[in-house]
Amino acid sequence: PVLILLGPPGAGKGTQARKLEQAFGLVQLSTGDMLRAAVAEGTEAGREAAAVMAAGGLVSDGIVTAILAERLDAPDCAQGVILDGFPRTRAQAEALDALLAAREQRLTAALSLEVDDAAMVDRIAGRFACAACGEGYHDTAKRPRREGLCDRCEGTEFTRRADDRAETVSARLAAYRRETAPLAAYYAAQGALRRVDAMNSIDTVAAELAAVVTRAT
Ligand code: AP5
Ligand code: ZN
Repeated sequence: PVLILLGPPGAGKGTQARKLEQAFGLVQLSTGDMLRAAVAEGTEAGREAAAVMAAGGLVSDGIVTAILAERLDAPDCAQGVILDGFPRTRAQAEALDALLAAREQRLTAALSLEVDDAAMVDRIAGRFACAACGEGYHDTAKRPRREGLCDRCEGTEFTRRADDRAETVSARLAAYRRETAPLAAYYAAQGALRRVDAMNSIDTVAAELAAVVTRAT
């Protein structure tokens, strides 16, 4: 299967993508994670992306699509993928259609995580992650089971994202509204859109997504 997770910053795309990976044996492809890795490595794409990401804008379609296309062909993706944070523009959606057609694959579903603005801001403000394995946490909604120790790898260092500051969040939301929200209509027209109420707890949303994915595959 090929699944897309749509939704505003902080909706829970990364959190739910990791749950779907485990439940269905799929691979999470997060363009945000790929870009942060490119920035950290100082690649040419990373140097171009760094300033845009710090300001909360969208990295160019060419860079993002190239990064995703390369990853899509890795052998571990043969079982199926969850696209987390891609596509984000009409041009990226059309590029994805072409990538899938060239591989004789089709989109299984575009899963739209629906949250209100207040929840989104609260989720971003409270977010932190394990520095070693990247497992995501939240100050109130998802604390490590043992204080100060990562549930997954027992790491003891945690980080917060540089673009989770209030000024950057409003730019990210504006970019989402302008460029990405219209993709719901794009996928509805293909009959692929599935809306999921993402205001519930992490486990409730995960259960609902699992049911939707089971019906779609
Ligand atoms: P990206 O990394 O994709 O960031 P984003 O879309 O802003 O999404 P987030 O990672 O902030 O949120 P999420 O929905 O994954 O939420 P999470 O699961 O972490 O992109 C970053 C930047 O890269 C962009 O601004 C852009 O510059 C660039 N970029 C990336 N892709 C691009 C593309 N395709 N084109 C162009 N540019 C691109 O959850 C958030 C928090 O809430 C966590 O703490 C979590 O524990 C908690 N939480 C999750 N679910 C729940 C729940 N149900 N209840 C309570 N708390 C919850
Ligand atoms: Zn960890």
